[in-house]
Amino acid sequence: MSTRTSGKNAPEDVARVTTRTLQDMKASGVKIAMLTAYDFTSARILDAAGIDVLLVGDSASNVMAGHETTLPITLDQMIYHAQCVVRGVSLALVVVDLPFGTYQGNTKEALSSAVRVMKESGAHAVKVEGGRSIVPTVERILEAGIPVMGHLGLTPQSIYRFGSYQVRARDEVEAEELREDAVLLERAGVFSIVLEKIPASLAAEVSASVSVPTIGIGAGAQCDGQVLVTHDALGLTTDFNPRFVRRYTHLDEQIEGHVKQYIDDVRSGNFPSDEESY
Ligand code: KIV
Repeated sequence: MSTRTSGKNAPEDVARVTTRTLQDMKASGVKIAMLTAYDFTSARILDAAGIDVLLVGDSASNVMAGHETTLPITLDQMIYHAQCVVRGVSLALVVVDLPFGTYQGNTKEALSSAVRVMKESGAHAVKVEGGRSIVPTVERILEAGIPVMGHLGLTPQSIYRFGSYQVRARDEVEAEELREDAVLLERAGVFSIVLEKIPASLAAEVSASVSVPTIGIGAGAQCDGQVLVTHDALGLTTDFNPRFVRRYTHLDEQIEGHVKQYIDDVRSGNFPSDEESY
């Protein structure tokens, strides 16, 4: 198995993470750690820390651009973010969300969006939201040799159909649909499936029933891996507080404190010092 524990300090023969690595990790019970990234500098730090997968999520629409939903972000903007991330990564697998409206129309359009992402950014895979309705799309993209990650449960591109960000598949009808969709995506050939905001027991069942790794977000501990939006995990976002987010730090407060200090230093003439001048 070719997993790794560290990026920056890893031995030189440490392998790049591939879709095969993730499969091996599931087989041997090693949990997969995935985070989002949208820019070069943070991608470099996350990669050096040893993250397995970096998702250039369309959550960039929220945390980078300040939109309320993921719907407005464009394919060109996603490609720009993906290019920045790819430049910062030496080991992690880079997966890019196909944005809303660039793959749901027809399979030809979906393939051309996926090809653009791969050619123009150098990323390693794409992610699409949805179940049975996007199986032909997944198959068409895969035929071109592009790995595809699926995404079931609370799929944010469908927020206006759902009407809220509540937990999905609590009732048996929707739960059964999700179980079937996971199997259909697996058969279509996805290398992994994100399960977002569904009951932990359902996510555990799905994770045990499909051979590909599941990556949970608000889907309990029995998924084969976990993903968080980096800005949430590091406390850069403050107004998004679902129970599934663990804040490892409060970077917003730290940054504010340091910026206040900088302002004071500038105002008082304490910065720059003689050592910081020429
Ligand atoms: O866009 C995103 O960040 C995502 C994750 C929340 C899974 O799709």
